[in-house]
Amino acid sequence: MKKTIIVTGLLAFMFGMTSCGDGESTPAPEKKTMNFGGTEEPKKEEKAAPADIGDPMTMKGIGPVSSVELGELDQAMVAEGQELFEANCTACHKVEKKFIGPMIKGVMERRNPVWVMNMILNPEEMIKSDPLAKQVMVESNMAIMANQSLTEDQARKILEYFRTL
Ligand code: HEC
Repeated sequence: MKKTIIVTGLLAFMFGMTSCGDGESTPAPEKKTMNFGGTEEPKKEEKAAPADIGDPMTMKGIGPVSSVELGELDQAMVAEGQELFEANCTACHKVEKKFIGPMIKGVMERRNPVWVMNMILNPEEMIKSDPLAKQVMVESNMAIMANQSLTEDQARKILEYFRTL
């Protein structure tokens, strides 16, 4: 009886040795995270692409104006429009660069004149309901264009001035 125990003990000991020798696996190299100093791994999509809202040049917006005729440039209107612009708009707009609102230069090449008129005369509703104005607002860090309470005639003069920029 005693012998059996010893043999079993020996076998167990030997088995232990073997298993220890064979099974001694080198520890897997520690997996290093590639996140140094909190740098985030690049995300698949940084920003959602702006929704496809169609060609801005065909969009007329929402407001009192439904059509605008652009004839030959009227220099008297341009001069008045410039004055009106400087008095009412330059707190937020610069001609040559983006400020609180978008840069004005080139606006007639990227926007329908009717849309520009409605943006001047009806900005509250435009940024609430017009898809293009909403997009421009997002691009302007959610700043809000203020209604300057101009008449349609005054807005039309500013538009004439915009044609020269
Ligand atoms: C209080 C600041 C503020 C004033 C004042 C202001 N705007 Fe704006 N304007 C904005 C902002 C901001 C936007 C972008 C839309 C938004 O976020 O509301 C904008 C957008 C526009 C756009 C569209 C430009 C584009 O590229 O799509 C036009 C055109 C415009 N304004 C014309 C005018 C005119 C003309 C006046 C003066 C009668 C005027 N704004 C006065 C802030 C202003």
